[in-house]
Amino acid sequence: MSHAFAMLVDLVADGGVVVLSGAGLSTESGIPDYRGETGRARKGEPMTYQTFVGSAAARQRYWARSHLGWQHIARAASNDGHRVVAELQARGLVSAVITQNVDGLHQAAGAKQVVELHGSLHRVRCLSCGERSRRERLDERLRAANPAWTAMLGAPDGDAGVNPDGDAAVEDSLVASFRVVDCESCGGLLKPDVIFFGENVPRPRVQECFELTECAGTLLVLGSSLTVMSGYRFVRRAAEHDIPVAIINQGPTRGDGDALLSLDAPLGATLTRLLREVA
Ligand SMILES: NC(=O)c1ccc[n+]([C@@H]2O[C@H](COP(=O)([O-])OP(=O)(O)OC[C@H]3O[C@@H](n4cnc5c(N)ncnc54)[C@H](O)[C@@H]3O)[C@@H](O)[C@H]2O)c1
Ligand SMILES: [Zn+2]
Repeated sequence: MSHAFAMLVDLVADGGVVVLSGAGLSTESGIPDYRGETGRARKGEPMTYQTFVGSAAARQRYWARSHLGWQHIARAASNDGHRVVAELQARGLVSAVITQNVDGLHQAAGAKQVVELHGSLHRVRCLSCGERSRRERLDERLRAANPAWTAMLGAPDGDAGVNPDGDAAVEDSLVASFRVVDCESCGGLLKPDVIFFGENVPRPRVQECFELTECAGTLLVLGSSLTVMSGYRFVRRAAEHDIPVAIINQGPTRGDGDALLSLDAPLGATLTRLLREVA
């Protein structure tokens, strides 16, 4: 057992662990990340909030791609990493889970009270009346409004080229034929309930995460490059409060200098071993 891994076992056994997870925790479920190996094949730039609200054509392109990509996200299953986090929480060793992921896989594995820092693709929000609704409902409505697309969704390669945001590459000519639907209550514009680039995480949600972090025994980062300040700020806060930061991530992260220990290792196998050692 490496020295760093032995230290990690001790920290987790002490409890009060706050998990901060990123896209790397879901790659073993087949959802690509942004900056790791699986993100290299990414097609196109992520949508910004300003482009989305400012252009009907951009929304048509977004929803067309997202309609295909959702089929892939909806089918994804949690992996060993998500299951170990849920199990450590059930044993009272993990006190909170903050995730940058929008795929709902922590909850699918049984984790409770997960703070979804960047929202969830499983919900949709109306930009006019604020109503939140289930993505499954929107999926039904989009299928009904786009019968030709619905036939295509049944095709075996229907999820080819899916991106981490749950969108997929689609030909421009196909996009032009896609029909977007609006809010059922007020006719307003619908947006996935996720934080786009160019948008800020609501202040109360950030505050909640700072409070969770400050009460942590250990902040455990799982599968995040911490490139985005939105997640990195909690690592900074923990370090400022002399709370040990532990990182499991393949490849370097921006938080390595703040961490007591960093393990460059695959998450599923490493967390499985961790659970065994802690038990
Ligand atoms: N699944 C999702 O919900 C999802 C997917 C992609 C992006 N996003 C969003 O994009 C942003 C991306 O930032 P981020 O820091 O979360 O992701 P990132 O892509 O910047 O970093 C992911 C890191 O995980 C590592 N990694 C990948 N697979 C791994 C594995 N099996 N074991 C160990 N390490 C592994 C990669 O090498 C990389 O360093 C977030 O804000 C998030 O909201 C979400
Ligand atoms: Zn509405």
